[in-house]
Amino acid sequence: MSQNLTLRRPDDWHLHLRDGAMLQAVLPETTRHFARAIIMPNLVPPVVTGAQAAAYRDRILAVLPDGADFTPLMTLYLTEDTDPDDVAAAHASGLVSAVKLYPAGATTNSASGVANFDKVRGVLERMAQIGLPLCLHGEVTDPAIDIFDREAVFIDRVLDPIRRATPGLRTVMEHITTRDGVDYALSQENLGATITTHHLIINRNHILVGGIKPHYYCLPVAKREDHRLALRAAATSGDPRFFLGTDSAPHTDALKENACGCAGCFTATNTLSILAHVFEEEGALDRLEAFTSLNGPAFYGLPVNDGTITLSRGDTVTYPEKIDTEDGPVTVFDPGFPLTWSVTA
Ligand code: DOR
Ligand code: ZN
Repeated sequence: MSQNLTLRRPDDWHLHLRDGAMLQAVLPETTRHFARAIIMPNLVPPVVTGAQAAAYRDRILAVLPDGADFTPLMTLYLTEDTDPDDVAAAHASGLVSAVKLYPAGATTNSASGVANFDKVRGVLERMAQIGLPLCLHGEVTDPAIDIFDREAVFIDRVLDPIRRATPGLRTVMEHITTRDGVDYALSQENLGATITTHHLIINRNHILVGGIKPHYYCLPVAKREDHRLALRAAATSGDPRFFLGTDSAPHTDALKENACGCAGCFTATNTLSILAHVFEEEGALDRLEAFTSLNGPAFYGLPVNDGTITLSRGDTVTYPEKIDTEDGPVTVFDPGFPLTWSVTA
């Protein structure tokens, strides 16, 4: 039976585009369907200053596919030396939409992130004053904390203290992976939480059972099934605190299928097909638009997009297994089941 679903054009509130040849290769995978995306600043070197964000935005715009209608929403990478005045100027000019906090050492290219949270208090207070959101990678890096517990411990040790110390700071818990994250988000105001496509599909068994599956390895790492179910319930609830941030994170196969493989799932290509499948399974197709197209703009204080896209359900759709880049192939996330929804208009 064919079925159509028309949504406001979606946005991706957490995206890695990288730079150079990789940027050029992966950008069309996002601009094909998405109108805007929050662009992560974890390049080497990171995008720390307003000037660096402006230059990175120009590099993205320079390789937009012909006819693409896409706005990159830039972010700054928070360091212990970040200058509050530079942040405020970048915000006032409309250049940046958020600042990203990586705990030092938590994930890909996070070495310049924050180790001592007291050192960024001044920047965070300024951000609260001017209404600039803080996006957080929510994992502690304490080697004594089990990797599967790092999100829950981050909420207690870092996130909640920051929020109490900085009233009014708008915060986004990026890529939540636990029931703890969902529960914390539901207990708060002025807080958003992005949920990735892949964390709605995989639990930790997918990574480890029957042989190690490097293309399912990401950070925060997928947790046990109960947490995945909590994420699905949150994403499909329609609650305005939850919105899509794919965290689509391209790494070449050589870097994924490696003795020390990189973290990241590349989902830009098939995200909307997968999400329609998930929302249909949950009996929530009528709430897909809230998750992909309405809740994010509301949190960021932006208008919803003018245009629409239409998803249709029909025969099985196939996507390329890999995207070719000058640096080597990038494997597209495999949800592990056939997809029948596709973007048709
Ligand atoms: O899986 C991930 N990949 N998680 C992150 O936090 C970073 C990202 C990347 O940049 O590759
Ligand atoms: Zn990310």
